[in-house]
Amino acid sequence: METRHFLKVEDMSRDEIVALIADARANRGERSVALHGKCLGMIFSKPSTRTRASFTAGAYQLGGDVMFVSEGEMQLGRGETVEDTARVLSSYLDGVVIRTYLQENLERFAAAASIPVINGLTDDHHPCQALADLMTISEYHDDLAGVKVVYLGDGNNVAVSLMDICAVVGAHVVICTPEELALPQWATDNAARLAAASGARVEVTTDPEAAASGADFLYTDVWFSMGQAEQPAKRARLEPYRIDEELLALTDPDCRVMHCLPAHRDEEISAEVMDGPRSIVFRQAENRLHAQKELLKRLMG
Ligand code: CP
Ligand code: NVA
Repeated sequence: METRHFLKVEDMSRDEIVALIADARANRGERSVALHGKCLGMIFSKPSTRTRASFTAGAYQLGGDVMFVSEGEMQLGRGETVEDTARVLSSYLDGVVIRTYLQENLERFAAAASIPVINGLTDDHHPCQALADLMTISEYHDDLAGVKVVYLGDGNNVAVSLMDICAVVGAHVVICTPEELALPQWATDNAARLAAASGARVEVTTDPEAAASGADFLYTDVWFSMGQAEQPAKRARLEPYRIDEELLALTDPDCRVMHCLPAHRDEEISAEVMDGPRSIVFRQAENRLHAQKELLKRLMG
């Protein structure tokens, strides 16, 4: 049987994603032995709070073990190839979560591995975040095909995976960034292809006020992703894209606010909104655990 990986949202079909989310909601809090005797590796080249802790806790709750290692502690840093590392680790472990910079390196690892490889964030994608995002959206809005999700801020990895998962399930997604911080063409072309298959509506705009109108969810992420230098000019450019009370006032009262975290209060999101009644960011963070346990059961169970 071919090894299944989860490197991008589209590695799962619409039906698989919808079923995973339904199971994550139904099995919330599950303790079982689904991963008994299995060991999940985690190789991280960037910091993490949620991804590392939720995969660790999730694997333990399913009766499995974990091995965490930061890339700098491995022979990778001394010239061992990604492919050799993947082959060797495949003979010890039952699955691996990788957080790294280049999507290409993750894909090289997966191509050489004979165990499931999960993307724990690259510069281009954050598909596990998108699973938890969609699960959270589904908890507040039954009809995924009727939902409008608006992402505001930097065109980054989180925006790509959010756009992709909305495109796969047939939602209406709007990516709103300054022109020079827009998502790359490959990303929007890919989402358009996914949307053509599902009937989703994918829009790209530079106008935050127009985007927010009619939104069911406003979503943002940090303005400087891990590995990016903080540039004052970029910060200034993104000011109009902050989710604050003024922007939220343009939406219906039941519009909710999302953020993958970590958040920088009063940068991409005002403290008032982040800690206010319409913020569902901590529910969203918790859902990383529930959605990823379903992913682990499917790939490693
Ligand atoms: N949202 C997310 O991936 O958080 P961490 O960087 O803390 O893992
Ligand atoms: N875009 C952010 C997400 C952090 C979870 C980053 O890549 O740093």
